[in-house]
Amino acid sequence: MLRDPRSDRKPDGHALPKKEAIARLRHAMAAHQAGDLDTAERLYRPLAGVPATRTDTLHYLGVLMHQRGRSEVGVAFLRQAISLLPTQPDAHNNLGNIHKECGDLEDAEASYRRAVTLAPAHPQALGNLAVLLEARGADDEARLVYRHWLRTHPADVRAHYFYGRFLCTHPERREDIESAVDIFRSGLGIQPDHAGLLEALGMALYGLERIDEATEVYRAWSTRDPDHPVPRHMLAACGAIDAPDRADDAYIRNLFDRFANSFDDQLIGHLAYRAPDALVAAIDNLPHRDALDVLDAGCGTGLCGPLLRARARRLVGVDLSASMIDKAAARGCYDELHEAELTRHLDDASRYDLVVCADTLVYFGELNTFFNATYRALRDHGVVAFTLEALDDERPYRLTPSGRYRHSATYVARALRDAGFDHVDIAPDTLRREAGRWVDGWVVTARRMSPGEH
Ligand SMILES: C[S@@+](CC[C@H](N)C(=O)[O-])C[C@H]1O[C@@H](n2cnc3c(N)ncnc32)[C@H](O)[C@@H]1O
Repeated sequence: MLRDPRSDRKPDGHALPKKEAIARLRHAMAAHQAGDLDTAERLYRPLAGVPATRTDTLHYLGVLMHQRGRSEVGVAFLRQAISLLPTQPDAHNNLGNIHKECGDLEDAEASYRRAVTLAPAHPQALGNLAVLLEARGADDEARLVYRHWLRTHPADVRAHYFYGRFLCTHPERREDIESAVDIFRSGLGIQPDHAGLLEALGMALYGLERIDEATEVYRAWSTRDPDHPVPRHMLAACGAIDAPDRADDAYIRNLFDRFANSFDDQLIGHLAYRAPDALVAAIDNLPHRDALDVLDAGCGTGLCGPLLRARARRLVGVDLSASMIDKAAARGCYDELHEAELTRHLDDASRYDLVVCADTLVYFGELNTFFNATYRALRDHGVVAFTLEALDDERPYRLTPSGRYRHSATYVARALRDAGFDHVDIAPDTLRREAGRWVDGWVVTARRMSPGEH
């Protein structure tokens, strides 16, 4: 048995001939890569006692223990491996990954830096270091590391994708977004069907207001993959086909299941997202009531959760995206979470005092259906509070080339009153950034009238 780094039991397996030990290590690694952790662990353990396989075994076993949820043991094994062979960059990179997933960002950064010092063109370590630097706002250094990653690995589509995305999110000038377009296009030269690159290219072209070119990207993508919900939605967003009343469920799931891991970093770190704070401030301005039953409709990763928890007797979240729901669950502040379409959930719902919808009705055009369902789900004098993007023209709403809808304040006020709400308050605010610009929005609250007040 391999000893736990903190145990003093002696390892065995040291009698194995070198050739046999290496063959067994390959077998263990194959099982590990295939996701058979039980077999991999059983095969790895005796090999840690064999000098020829000890370092690699400790390294991979460290990764495996982390995958099993025993990250402290994993870190200890990786440290043992590194103490035996300090110049192995992969071990430093994997140790960085474990630290990062455990939220130890300083240790993660130190490990990635060590890997890059040992191997200046290590593709994973460069990418990991750049993403971490970007997440902690060290934009200048992140830019250099991303650029170096792409220069040293011009055939790596991930380098194209991440560096281009960085340039679009942190443009210092318009030329940065133009460079991103070139980078995305050269990545697509390597992998023409890379959905992330196609989507990012379309959005970069939108950022440059080159909507015709964006339309061409989506049209070619849709022709190649007619069932893919993203190009279909984005063709409507660019005005090439009719817009639906709201984004369809498949589009929302596809978008947010992919986005879930980076959502919080992207929105808070890079897009200056502040809808949850603005909504809670608006709710706190209303006549105060305690012990509320609250629905967070389109709860996403649960950014509103901790703010609403303090005001709720019962806090329920609903969202279409399973991956976003998983993140919300990890916050531990919801009493219930439902993976469902929010209007359907409202139709089946028990009664609430407050329905909150932060940055989610931007995926709805027509709002009457949502307002009617919310009216039925609220108790008398219950409150609905939500944010929207502002439309400043004659139309009630419009699906824009960003893929999100904008709404006119006139339409929102009328639709709320038609559904039976009063005390309608629509305040202009800026709630997030997009392609380096602030997006104008509305923070809206309204109160459900009781049937006698109509
Ligand atoms: C931009 S995120 C906002 C998440 C969260 N409210 C916040 O402020 O961080 C929008 C969320 O709404 C969800 N969503 C969009 N349309 C939905 C629908 N019709 N039913 C349920 N969830 C929906 C998406 O899956 C996504 O998690």
